[in-house]
Amino acid sequence: MQLLNSPTRYGAIAQFLHWTAVALVVLAWVLGMFGDELPKGSSRDLGLYVHTTAGLLVIALTILRLLWRLADPSPPAEKTRFGEWLFADWVGLGAKLAHFGLYVLLVAVPVAGIVLQFARGDGLSIFGIVEIASPWVRDRAFAESVKEIHELLAHGLLALAGLHAAAALVHHCVFRDRTLVRMLPGSKA
Ligand code: HEM
Ligand code: HEM
Repeated sequence: MQLLNSPTRYGAIAQFLHWTAVALVVLAWVLGMFGDELPKGSSRDLGLYVHTTAGLLVIALTILRLLWRLADPSPPAEKTRFGEWLFADWVGLGAKLAHFGLYVLLVAVPVAGIVLQFARGDGLSIFGIVEIASPWVRDRAFAESVKEIHELLAHGLLALAGLHAAAALVHHCVFRDRTLVRMLPGSKA
């Protein structure tokens, strides 16, 4: 198994960090949107606990991933049939901006979630190991505004990730290059 990135593909560590973050973001989003459907009481509390824990793991993984990226830089963009086009540079710039936007939102969404938890006057359990008490008293109006910001940023993250996934599929199905394959576990160099 190739652990590190090479000029032609992502290594197992970068792939693990990417796909684990994808699963956690989807889990957090589904629980955020539909957690209210769970029966009131311990089920709903558990749903919120899993939601916040998945969100905290997202921020931890993202920080780890950004540090890892310094030690093991991403492979350069695949040579694709986009490259034959005049506006290829703009497409490449678009992909870079999308990745940057994804990293920003992977941090901003959980941070807004943490602020929301504190605005409600609730403590924050860090993986059940320590509980950080809220520094603020409960403020309903502030919490409501932060909840809207948290939700908006979360939808922005999902929308940008959707565009990003669609671009990966276009590379795979239309341009038939290795952009998607080299991010998949088990792909050959
Ligand atoms: C990538 C990570 C996350 C995503 C995608 C996400 C997404 C969402 C979404 C879509 C909602 C529903 C908002 C609404 O109905 O108005 C929500 C609610 C919420 N989120 Fe997050 N969130 C994440 C991380 C976090 C974190 C780290 C925390 C706190 C530590 C947190 C705390 C909350 C709270 C307290 C609610 C309100 C739940 C309720 O009213 O029952 N979230 N989140
Ligand atoms: C919540 C969902 C997702 C997030 C937050 C996300 C985030 C990212 C980020 C930040 C990168 C840049 C990696 C680097 O620094 O080099 C990346 C790369 C990549 N992602 Fe995603 N991603 C998501 C979902 C998906 C899905 C569903 C697919 C496939 C259908 C996908 C395919 C890829 C591919 C192929 C690359 C490598 C692109 C290249 O070589 O330039 N991602 N992703």
